[in-house]
Amino acid sequence: MKLCRGLVLAISLAGLLCPLVHADSASEFTGMKPRYMRLFKSALERETLDEKQAEIWSPLPNQPWKQCTSSSGSSLPEKSEGYLQVFLDGGLNQQRMGICDAVAVAKILNATLVIPYLEVNPVWQDSSSFEDIFDVEHFINVLKDDISIVRELPNEFSWSTREYYGTAIRPTRIKTAPVHASVNWYQENVLPVLQSYGIAAISPFSHRLTFDNLPMEIQRLRCKVNFQALTFVPHITSLGEALVNRLRYNSGDNANAKTNYIHKVTDLSNKQPAKFVVLHLRFDKDMAAHSACDFGGGKAEKLALAKYRQVIWQGRVLNSQFTDEELRSQGRCPLTPEETGLLLAALGFDNNTRLYLASHKVYGGEARVAALRELFPLMEDKKTLTSPDELFEIKKKASLLAAVDYYVSMQSDIFVSASPGNMHNALMGHRTYENMKTIKPNMALLGQLFLNKTITWSDFQSGVMEGHNDRQGQMRLRKPKKSIYTYPAPDCMCSA
Ligand SMILES: *[C@@H]1O[C@H](CO)[C@@H](O)[C@H](O)[C@H]1NC(C)=O
Ligand SMILES: *[C@@H]1O[C@H](CO)[C@@H](O)[C@H](O)[C@H]1NC(C)=O
Ligand SMILES: *[C@@H]1O[C@H](CO)[C@@H](O)[C@H](O)[C@H]1NC(C)=O
Repeated sequence: MKLCRGLVLAISLAGLLCPLVHADSASEFTGMKPRYMRLFKSALERETLDEKQAEIWSPLPNQPWKQCTSSSGSSLPEKSEGYLQVFLDGGLNQQRMGICDAVAVAKILNATLVIPYLEVNPVWQDSSSFEDIFDVEHFINVLKDDISIVRELPNEFSWSTREYYGTAIRPTRIKTAPVHASVNWYQENVLPVLQSYGIAAISPFSHRLTFDNLPMEIQRLRCKVNFQALTFVPHITSLGEALVNRLRYNSGDNANAKTNYIHKVTDLSNKQPAKFVVLHLRFDKDMAAHSACDFGGGKAEKLALAKYRQVIWQGRVLNSQFTDEELRSQGRCPLTPEETGLLLAALGFDNNTRLYLASHKVYGGEARVAALRELFPLMEDKKTLTSPDELFEIKKKASLLAAVDYYVSMQSDIFVSASPGNMHNALMGHRTYENMKTIKPNMALLGQLFLNKTITWSDFQSGVMEGHNDRQGQMRLRKPKKSIYTYPAPDCMCSA
C-alpha cells in the first residue's frame, strides 16, 4: 500500500492502479462483489431525467429564518472570578462542541477561559493542539466583547497542567460534572473552586452543558463561537479552497486534470463552476464492529468483526443481541459505500456527478469502495486532488485532515453523510445555519428496502425518493434535549 501511494504521483493512471483509501487488512475482503447485484445493475443503467437533475441540484428556497447570534448587551464582567481550563476528548467535531460549551461556561461563571486543551484520541491518534487547527487570534478577537480568553496561564498557575491532574487527586480539578449539567450546577460546584483557588480545571468536559433552560444570551454565544469564532488556520483553509476549486473547475477527465491543476493554474475566468456533492463516509472497523451488523463481506469479515468486539469490548456490545435483520429494520446499521451509492443513484444523481469523499479510512479499502466508484466514476478525495507535497504537513493528522474535509463540506452544493454521528451533526447544523442543502438518510427506511431481496429498481427508487422528500435540509426546529449545534433554530436564528 505504501508503495502504491508513491506511485500515485508518477502515474496518472493512479485511479486505476491504486485505491484512494487504504485497505484495512485487505485480505479479509478479496473478491468482494456488489451485494445487491440486481439493484446495482439497474443503477448502473439508470437514466436520469433532466428535470430530476435540476431539482436535486437546486439550492434550498429561502427560509423564514435568519442568522442571529449577536448578543446585545453582552459585556465583560467587571472582575474575573479566575481561570477556567477544560480538557476535551473525542475527534475534531466533538472537541468543537466542547470549545463552544467552554466559552459558555466561562461566561456563566465570569471566568477567564484558557484556550482549551485537546486530548489525543485513542482511535484518531492526533496530537494537534487548538492552535494547530483553529485560528486563535480570530477566535479571541471575535469573542473579545463576550469573554476574556488567554492563550496560556500566567506563571503563578503554570503548575495546572494535564500531567498534574493525571498523577493525583487535586482540589482544583472538577471530575464529576454531570452530562448536560445546568447553570446552577456550575454556580454551585465550580464557582467556589474558582473563588478559592483562582482556577478550576474541568475534565472530562464533553457534553457537560445542558441545551435547555439557558438564558438566550448564552445560547447565542454558543452559536457565535461555533459559526463565527471557530475558523481553521490559514494553511487548512487555503488547502480546502484549492480542493474546492479543483472540484469546481477540473474537466472531469481525472488523469489529465490532475496533472493540470497541480502544475499550473488554469484560466478559470470563463468556465462555469461545476457543482459537487460531499459524501461523508465513516466506515471504519471500530464502527463496523460496534454496530454488529452484517456488511456482506462473508464469513471472514464476520469473524474478524466478532474478534474485534471480543478484544476491544470483551464482547459486551449491546447490538450483538439483535439479528442483522432487526438492526437493519430499526435503521441501526451504518450504510456501506455500496448502499450509499445506491441511495444517491435512486435520489437522481447521474454518473456525471462530482462526488468528493470525506473519509478517513474505509474498512475493507478499495474492495469496499469499488461499487460506489462504478456508480460515480467522478469520485475524488483529498489524495486524488492533491500532490503529496501539498498534503505533507497534515499527513497522518486525523484532526487536520478532518478539518480540510469540514471546510470542503461547507462549500459543497450538497452534503450527505452515510451515518449519523458527530461530523454529520456538526455539518448539518452549520449548513442549516447557512441555509444549504444536506441530505439526511432515512436509515430505517433504507434498512427495510435493502432487506427486500426481490425489490425492483423502480420500487426501490420511488421508496427512496418518497422517504427523502423532506430530508434535504428543510429547517427543523430544535426539540428539547437536542443539540443547538445540530438544530440551530430557534435558539440561534430569528424569524425573518
Ligand atoms: C453514464 O451512463 C451512461 C448510460 O446511462 C453511459 O452511456 C455512460 O458511458 C456512463 N458514463 C460513465 C462515465 O460511466
Ligand atoms: C458576573 O458578573 C455580572 C456583572 O458583571 C454579575 O451581575 C453576575 O452576578 C456575575 N456572575 C457570577 C456567577 O459571578
Ligand atoms: C419487495 O419488493 C417487491 C418488488 O418490488 C414488492 O412487490 C414487495 O411488496 C416488497 N416486499 C416488501 C415486504 O416490502
